Amino acid sequence: MKSFSIGTAFFLLLIGVHVVSTASGPKRLSSYDPQVKALLAKMTLEEKIGQMTQPEQGPVLSNPGDIQKYFIGSVLSGGGSDPEEGNTLEAWTNLYDRVQAEAMKTRLKIPILYGIDAVHGHSNVEGAVIFPHNIALGCSRDPELVEKAGRITAEEVRATGIQWTFGPCVAVPQDIRWGRTYEGFSEDPELVRILGAAAVRGMQGADLGDPLSILACAKHYVGDGGTSASSAPRRGMPKSAAGRVWLDQGDTKVDEAALRRIHLPGYIAAVKAGVGSIMPSYSSWNGVRCSASKRLLTEILKEELGFEGFLISDYNAIGQIQPGDYKSSVEISINAGMDMAMEPNNYRRFFDTLKGLVAEGRVPTARIDDAVTRILRVKFAMGMMDEDASHKADRSLHASFGSAEHRALAREAVRKSVVLLKNEKKVLPVSKSIKRIHVCGKSADNIGNQCGGWTVQWQGKSGNVTPGGTTIVEAVKKAVSPGTEITYSIDGSGAEGAALGLVVIGELPYAEGVGDRADLSLDSADVRAISNVKKAGIPLAVLLISGRPMILGNALPQADALLVSFLPGTEGSGITDVIFGDYNPTGKLSLSWPKSMEQLPLNINHGKEKYDPLFPYGYGLSY
Ligand code: BGC
Ligand code: BGC
Repeated sequence: MKSFSIGTAFFLLLIGVHVVSTASGPKRLSSYDPQVKALLAKMTLEEKIGQMTQPEQGPVLSNPGDIQKYFIGSVLSGGGSDPEEGNTLEAWTNLYDRVQAEAMKTRLKIPILYGIDAVHGHSNVEGAVIFPHNIALGCSRDPELVEKAGRITAEEVRATGIQWTFGPCVAVPQDIRWGRTYEGFSEDPELVRILGAAAVRGMQGADLGDPLSILACAKHYVGDGGTSASSAPRRGMPKSAAGRVWLDQGDTKVDEAALRRIHLPGYIAAVKAGVGSIMPSYSSWNGVRCSASKRLLTEILKEELGFEGFLISDYNAIGQIQPGDYKSSVEISINAGMDMAMEPNNYRRFFDTLKGLVAEGRVPTARIDDAVTRILRVKFAMGMMDEDASHKADRSLHASFGSAEHRALAREAVRKSVVLLKNEKKVLPVSKSIKRIHVCGKSADNIGNQCGGWTVQWQGKSGNVTPGGTTIVEAVKKAVSPGTEITYSIDGSGAEGAALGLVVIGELPYAEGVGDRADLSLDSADVRAISNVKKAGIPLAVLLISGRPMILGNALPQADALLVSFLPGTEGSGITDVIFGDYNPTGKLSLSWPKSMEQLPLNINHGKEKYDPLFPYGYGLSY
């Protein structure tokens, strides 16, 4: 297959560039051990366990005094865990300052590391610039771009004081029925390796001590994208979301060679790039939960790969190890190598349980010291322990939050990730002085659909979820000449007489297991919008906005032109840059595109003899 050999040559080139650019490498985290040791020597067991405990902001603040009482070392905001006073930049910054002020009342005044899912920009906060999700960035194949996006994300996160993101996700999705497919850069381990390292460099900068850097977290270690489909829903998932197929948090049944070949390269690269934290996966490897595996956490990651940062458990993941036996779960996980526990609500229980386990000798003190050493290394490296460090957010950064400059880079990311899949009768590029375009479809005027999950809320939300962005129809209006008429209808009616119909279709927002799907066909509203335009007898361009490839069915023969932007984020003008020819498309598919559901799982890593996609991995046209 021709596209493979060209792709391979391209990658070799990128790898070459990559090796040169990180030759010197970031400062080793263990170089802070002298300072860490001195501090550790002053700490009580309770102060140490507090460093290992991460509650969610809401629960811990609703129990006044708990940050001091439990010597809390880290706090998180999960998806949609907004400040009580609202979701504005101001409110987030106040929240951060308030949490840090609590930590300053403790004996040792060790600052709190505040973590959040800034997975495509500072995506919880209203008005932030929202970048394309990783699946789209994968189509750009541009590590420099991904690094720059990481820099801007870091700056916007820092504007709220927060210093840590739970990203990049270096999953290597093997089955697009998985609801987290869009969080991964590609089904190809090579591309994940290159872009994952670029994202870490962008977020952490040249030095973690840079006040514009944030701590990155490679996730979910390891094999989260390799789980096999099952019909048993996982605990806690709403029944309404049941698609009768479940992949999220499942079991990755592969031998160690395949695990290393497909799922490990992203972590090797992230560790080389100096990533300071890694999140073990909810999922299992051959029946053993990753969060319980000493082989994965300690032997492979810490001993073999030389990871010197710390491991943060996923949201309530420790308790899933031995359901009903929390104490054994904590024992197994901490002894396997987990360093910090994400216990959003039950942080007191974690604290007391771990303290008890140490008293009983079931968790060795040396393991506690190792975990705390790893956490403190990061705090020293980030300059948080400096005597003159400010424990307040730098509000001067508010000026550039969601700024035109940040949006311009996101727009570049969008245009570089759009993939042109079909273009007949030279429908594209469209002339800016075209007489009339009829724009339609459920995602033509919908920022929420453009952004997808992990946007303002955990699951994302359709509609006007965040200010400052540009929808597709708005972008079209901005791009065309004053003489061009733009008409709009959601269902495609009224297209008659237009010179072009542009139908914007795809998926509604979702996150995690809620997005596991047995059927990826276009929904009836999308099919109807396309056929309404078709009936008008005008040229038809289709734009797909979705978290993964979809089963196109009749839409493909009906469309004269077909573009996919996956989940582009707030900057719709990146798409019109391509549509109107200001940018000749360069995006190449980061995943294989199936003809039918029966072909799944379909990807370049398995069964190449049966590889018969609609569009192969790496496919993408130019004008
Ligand atoms: C997800 C992680 C996320 C964490 C915190 C978990 O449910 O699996 O990716 O970082 O929640 O929101
Ligand atoms: C949280 C998410 C988290 C999820 C885990 C949600 O309630 O907001 O951050 O990832 O639970 O299932």
